[in-house]
Parts: sequence; structure tokens; C-alpha cells
Amino acid sequence: MATARAGVRRANLGLEEAVAEAEARYVAARPKSRAIFEQNLRAMPGGNTRTVLFFSPFPTVISEGRGARLLDVDGHEYVDWLGEYSAGLYGHSHPVILRAIREALEHGIALGGPNRFEGPLAAELCRRFPSLELVRFCNSGTEANLFAISAARAFTGRPAVMVFDYGYHGGVFYFTPGQDRINAPFPWVLAPFNDTAGTLALLEAHAGELAAVLIEPMQGGAGAICAEPAFLAALREACTRHGVCLIFDEVMTSRMSAGGLQARLGITPDMTSLGKYLGGGLSLAAFGGKAAIMAQFDPRRPGAVPHAGTFNNNVLAMAAGLAGLTEVATPEVLDAHFERGERLKARINDLAARRGVPFQCTGTGTILGLHCQGGPLRSGRDLAAQDPARRERLQRLLHYDLLERGHYLARRGYLTVSLPLSAEDEESFLAAIDEFLALRRHLLLD
Ligand SMILES: Cc1ncc(COP(=O)(O)O)c(C=O)c1O
Repeated sequence: MATARAGVRRANLGLEEAVAEAEARYVAARPKSRAIFEQNLRAMPGGNTRTVLFFSPFPTVISEGRGARLLDVDGHEYVDWLGEYSAGLYGHSHPVILRAIREALEHGIALGGPNRFEGPLAAELCRRFPSLELVRFCNSGTEANLFAISAARAFTGRPAVMVFDYGYHGGVFYFTPGQDRINAPFPWVLAPFNDTAGTLALLEAHAGELAAVLIEPMQGGAGAICAEPAFLAALREACTRHGVCLIFDEVMTSRMSAGGLQARLGITPDMTSLGKYLGGGLSLAAFGGKAAIMAQFDPRRPGAVPHAGTFNNNVLAMAAGLAGLTEVATPEVLDAHFERGERLKARINDLAARRGVPFQCTGTGTILGLHCQGGPLRSGRDLAAQDPARRERLQRLLHYDLLERGHYLARRGYLTVSLPLSAEDEESFLAAIDEFLALRRHLLLD
């Protein structure tokens, strides 16, 4: 299997030329991906059915995943640092996950009744997450947030929801400026992430109409930017004081310990949404929280709130999810994995410091962000402060350079550490980053 290396990069180019050169090599090495992209353009807008997987000029088409490796249709092999945007915690062929899916498959796929997996899976989540007294399942993180918000609105009788700039909670919950055109039409109150005074002032002003405050304890889509513990603690206190439901969107961050990032931070929200790796790589998500809020869904109650969804208890995802949590992602494994991610982040930041270039790795545990930018990054506003064209070019160059060295990650620099990644994979990744920092030093410093 060929790696993605091809051609020789010239070290003394300007930024635009360097990107053009890297892009030309990317295109030349992927004739099959290009042909598939052109074919797909005929039936899908932009040849794409999931915006985040598109990057210009056309994305690499993946043919196979094995362990922590991806293969593309053009014969390249990559170390998979994307980890399916955190849904791929277990890698592509974990024997426990495959066994659970195969066993479940033997007994039928869509059963139309309660199955033997949902109760144990719900019980396991309630045991693990401090905020979960009761939980329900659905298919995606978007849905989980939709149900969590709706549950809070029904419970409080209030309409509005506070969210944060640059936050992302699913396909109809984008809070990056300019990306909100198809958002669900809730009365949103948009607050400044990690700005305690600004947020509390808004919260006080809107307290009477707010059903919920919805926040990612680390903003993944915004570039792996952590909420500061004091900021979250202030939100917790203000929500309690005003009877507003605090919802942690832990769709991404729930892998940071058995009890998610909330357990690590020691801050317990009223509700939590989960997703991504929850179904072992198949689609499954959950929302839950305080018994009083969730009891609205109890169908035995007069006037119960309905919670529908054909695939809410889909058998294969539940079987895979339960086996994954109980046999693989144990509390000890998740704690060790978190520390591994922290060490990787520290080593990347150390490389940047040694090279003396404005480059940094943000995030927490096993979800990280690479940024061709120095200085504190406390919110998407700090990222947006850089010239957007220059930032886009540098991130594109980083992406091409890492792909060429056989490391697959998101163009925006987002990466996750999956369980099957080896120590050699890490060393090779660090070497590739260091090579980028050396070769592109003059462009980073420009
Ligand atoms: C924090 C967060 N919430 C919600 C979602 C939406 O999840 P899904 O793509 O399963 O709808 C995502 C997806 O990336 C996410 O990162």
C-alpha cells in the first residue's frame, strides 16, 4: 500500500504559492477521488451529503477503515486522527464491537418492541454520568439536543434558550456567525462564550423567559476551545438561582471520563446530551437528566410528553454501544486515554515553542485542535481575530502537508485520539507536525 507521499516541497515559497503547490500534488495523487466527486455532483449538491466532510477542491474518498487506519480509493493509507469527529473512539474494527453487532444481527434488526439492550445501556449511563437520573435514546446529537431543549421548555413553561457564539449543537443549531440560516426557530439568546460578566448580564436580563442554557463544556466545532471552569461554575450558580435548566452538550466530550467532562470538572448540569461514540460507531444518541424533567416523558402519566423515533432503540447500535461501554471504555481506560491526549497536546505545544512559531494545540483529553495561530484562544472570537483568508490558507497547507505524510484529520485542524492508535502513530504524527513547523516556519511567522 502506497503512502500519501509524493513530490518534493519547495521550502521558500510564499503562502499562496505554497498552498497552490501542495494542492496540485493533492489533486495529482487522487484521480479516483476526483472522478467519484465529479460523478456525485450530478445527484448531490456539491457532491456532498454532510457539509463537514467537504473540503476544496474535492475530498479524499475513503474506501476502508481498519483499526486506526483509513484507506482511500487512490491507494493511500492514513493514520486516522479524525476518528469520525469523535464517533470513532473504538476505531474501525474493534473485536468487541464487531462481535456485539454480529451477535445482535443474528437475532433480527428492526424488532418493533423494547429490546434486551436498552435497559442495561440506560442503567449504565445513569450509573456513570452525575447528571443522569433518567435517560432516553434517539439517533443523533442533533436530535438529542432538540429533545433536551424541548424537554426544558415543556418543564419550565418558558420559551427561550441561551446558547454561545461559535457553539455547535447539530445540523440546525449552528452559532457561528453567518452559518445560522437554517437553524431551528427557537427564541435564542446568544451569549459570549467564556465571558462571565457578559453572559451573566444577559442571563439576568432574560431570566424570566429562559427555559435553558445550552453549552458545550468544550466547543468542538469552534476549534476545541474549552469552557473555563469558573465560567461553567458561574453558569451553574445563575441557572440554579433563576430556575433555568442547564444543559451540557456532551455529544463530543462525554468520552473524557466515565462520567464525561462534567465528572472531571465537578459541575453537574440539569440535563446532558450524548452521542457520537455512544453506539460504538453506529448512530445512537441520548438525552437525560433530572428525574423531574425526564418524568414528563413517562407514557403512563396523563398528559405525558411524547418522545417518538422509529430508530430510538435500534438494536445494532444499542448492542454495540453497551458492549463498548461495559467491555472496552471502562472508567480506567477512559481516564488513561484522557491523560494520553493531554500528553500529546503538551508535546505538540512543546514542538511549537521549540520552533518559536505561532502554532498551538487546544482542546482537552482526546479531542484536540491544531491552530496556526499564537496567543490565547479562549473563544471563536479569538480565532476570528486573525485574517480569515490567511488563516484558511495556513490551515489548508497544514492539512495537505499532514495528508501527504499519511495523517488524516479535519481541514480545520480538529483531531481525536482513538483507542487503537499506537505509540508509533503518535511519534509519526509528531514528526510530521515538526516537519511542517520547520518547513513552513517563514509562512507561520509572516
Ligand atoms: C457538541 C456537538 N453537539 C451535537 C452534535 C450533533 O451530533 P450529530 O452529528 O450526531 O447530529 C455534534 C456533532 O458534531 C457536536 O459536536
